[in-house]
Amino acid sequence: MEQIIFDAHAHYNDDLYSEAERNEVIEYVFENGVKFILNAGTNIQTSKESIALAEKYKGIYAGVGFYPHDCINITDEKEALDTLDTLTKHPKVVSIAEIGLDYHYDDTPRDIQKKWFELQLDLAKQKDMPVCIHDREAHGDVVEILKRHKGVKGMLHSFSGSRETAEELLKLGFYISVSGVVTFKNAVKLVEVVETLPLDRMLIETDTPYLSPVPRRGQKNNSANLMYTAAKIAEIKNMSIEEICNITRQNACRLFGIEE
Ligand code: NI
Repeated sequence: MEQIIFDAHAHYNDDLYSEAERNEVIEYVFENGVKFILNAGTNIQTSKESIALAEKYKGIYAGVGFYPHDCINITDEKEALDTLDTLTKHPKVVSIAEIGLDYHYDDTPRDIQKKWFELQLDLAKQKDMPVCIHDREAHGDVVEILKRHKGVKGMLHSFSGSRETAEELLKLGFYISVSGVVTFKNAVKLVEVVETLPLDRMLIETDTPYLSPVPRRGQKNNSANLMYTAAKIAEIKNMSIEEICNITRQNACRLFGIEE
């Protein structure tokens, strides 16, 4: 198969994989249509693991950052920011990922989530580095905060908002990333978003090992499953799977500054 897919968001460092399984899965996806993977960090340790994967595999690029519910564990603010800053200097780190707000769970108070979201947006702006945003049931606050941080570029990972929220984010220059959720039977809202989403702002992602598309639900996800996600988007957009893979790959390369 031609190597054509860019998986804009994955966690191959996840503990769900044994070391042997991890290597096997990564080699499998690179032999099955996948050329690039953005592997996102969620705290300092997983960001370092992400970088280690990027050092090992040519097609893997790393994101570093604090996930909303990992911010509660930060004890020394200055040290955390300095360490993050240092990690961004690695040649294969291309994104502050993943950062944002998650109001589905209450593990981390919202004011702490917001503080770290904004601190990391400031770092991204200072570094001119794209962000990857996790937004779960926090669409209003995410848009409001991004409006106060104009000039930051990036993507909304596994977008779950409405068409109206997507419009606001597109106006701010953001890319919208579509996950395997689009293949689910109840994904009415996401299908609506994809219908009107401009092709030059669309990305595709797995969030591996989570969010496996139909017909792989219940299994650990992998980037080769993006064929199912791309097929669903192709159906919605009345285009070919190859076109969807090509356009989303070009978009991701442009956003992350990666040469094809
Ligand atoms: Ni993620």
